[in-house]
Amino acid sequence: MADPAPRLIVEDWKIPHEIFVENDKEGEDPFFEELRDDHYNHLYRWVKEWGIRSVLEIGVKAGYGLFSFCSANPKLRYCGIELCKEGHRFARNAQELAGLFPDARFEFLWGTRSTDLDVLPGSRWDLIYIDGEHTAEAVFSDLELSARYADQILLDDCIMEGVVNGVGPWIVRQYGKGLRVPHEYFRTKHGHLLIDVAEITE
Ligand SMILES: C[S@@+](CC[C@H](N)C(=O)[O-])C[C@H]1O[C@@H](n2cnc3c(N)ncnc32)[C@H](O)[C@@H]1O
Repeated sequence: MADPAPRLIVEDWKIPHEIFVENDKEGEDPFFEELRDDHYNHLYRWVKEWGIRSVLEIGVKAGYGLFSFCSANPKLRYCGIELCKEGHRFARNAQELAGLFPDARFEFLWGTRSTDLDVLPGSRWDLIYIDGEHTAEAVFSDLELSARYADQILLDDCIMEGVVNGVGPWIVRQYGKGLRVPHEYFRTKHGHLLIDVAEITE
């Protein structure tokens, strides 16, 4: 059996306090403080360790994910999809954070309802990070769409019922089609599930 691929050890990283927007109440929550260190650190390390060059993110909000990804790779090709009016009020913050990375390439899609999307921008993404609507229907639909475009999918919030009820049936459905779906769960504050789309086999 071949040796497992060596994993790089990437230094811990903390998302800076300064980037959080004032009216984002999460910033005052002790749970959010832990999330800040553990969750965004994992996003940073993921991009760094895997040498990720392109990321599409579903659910941009204020751009904290964007900031974490671009801190790990300042030359990243990034596309952010924010399809909820609630999230649009943070758009300026996300765009300001994008401005901190002059060597990265950005594209944003501000609209409504990802479940209505049937194509994504770009043809291939190293990583698609799904962190949008947390209902089973939306997660299933985001996975179905993203799997056509991604080498890897990182699904956030796998501790939430809607997310679990979306990803479970999606994986089972692939098995029903005779496909094996390599995936790995990371016990981060919000629970990250990595789906290795490029390694899906019959
Ligand atoms: C948890 S926040 C995203 C946080 C962001 N990924 C980060 O790391 O900073 C979820 C975002 O998804 C957006 N959203 C809600 N429904 C959506 C949908 N159907 N499609 C895409 N985005 C959606 C919300 O407006 C919100 O901004």
